[in-house]
Amino acid sequence: MSILLPRHVAIVMDGNGRWARARGALRADGHRAGVEPVRTVIEECVRRGIGALTLFAFSSENWGRPRDEVMGLMSLFVESLEAEIDELHRRGVCVRFIGERDELDVRLRTSMAGSERITADNTALALQIAVSYGGRSDILSAARSLAARVERHEITSAQIDEPTFSAALALAGLPDPDLFIRTGGEQRISNFLLWNLAYTELYFTELLWPDFDAAAFEAALQHFAARQRRFGLTGEQIDAGEQPGLP
Ligand code: FPP
Repeated sequence: MSILLPRHVAIVMDGNGRWARARGALRADGHRAGVEPVRTVIEECVRRGIGALTLFAFSSENWGRPRDEVMGLMSLFVESLEAEIDELHRRGVCVRFIGERDELDVRLRTSMAGSERITADNTALALQIAVSYGGRSDILSAARSLAARVERHEITSAQIDEPTFSAALALAGLPDPDLFIRTGGEQRISNFLLWNLAYTELYFTELLWPDFDAAAFEAALQHFAARQRRFGLTGEQIDAGEQPGLP
């Protein structure tokens, strides 16, 4: 039986370090083991026709981790991209990166730009990978770019409404996430897509990211399908078929 699917899923992939520690392994091994579930959720999204997936790979706060771990993660991103990009392209995935690119090393930036160029016209899945991303900084840079447009007299401040603001954010052009998943047991947003998650269904699981498999993704989708999304209306209004005025 088919279930109601989210159009856009956002994931905080947490728990790699604890997964490694439980095995007496290095944190870097946990991150490496975290690549397989990334592959799995991408494949599952394509297979099920979920149009957009946004993954939190590295937050602006993660720069504060030990230098070795940060360097290891950056190398893992380059290595994974280079190893996977042909297959992603073959599957019709359009890859985009969100976050502060200036802070990243040139090899990663080159690899990111190349992947975006190769996959730009693909339509099976819009995959956003957040690297050096912070939700507050995303909102600040949208505010700055709109303020600059006002200064240039391109728009008036009164014309800044929700759609205009959304269009100035990193996820411009995509529907807001319907489903947010966080692995690793913490129940926090951790400065991920702060604006875009306003009405998103939140799903938290104790599973550590390297253990997150197709069955775990299915459980999150089942949870989503069972939710009644009210967007501020009452349950009675929704049952009576009233349409919320939100996207
Ligand atoms: C959080 O777990 C995870 C990260 C900061 C890195 C996420 C990276 C991957 C899943 C690697 C593959 C990603 C791509 C896009 C190829 P943690 O280290 O905070 O875990 P802990 O809370 O158990 O310490």
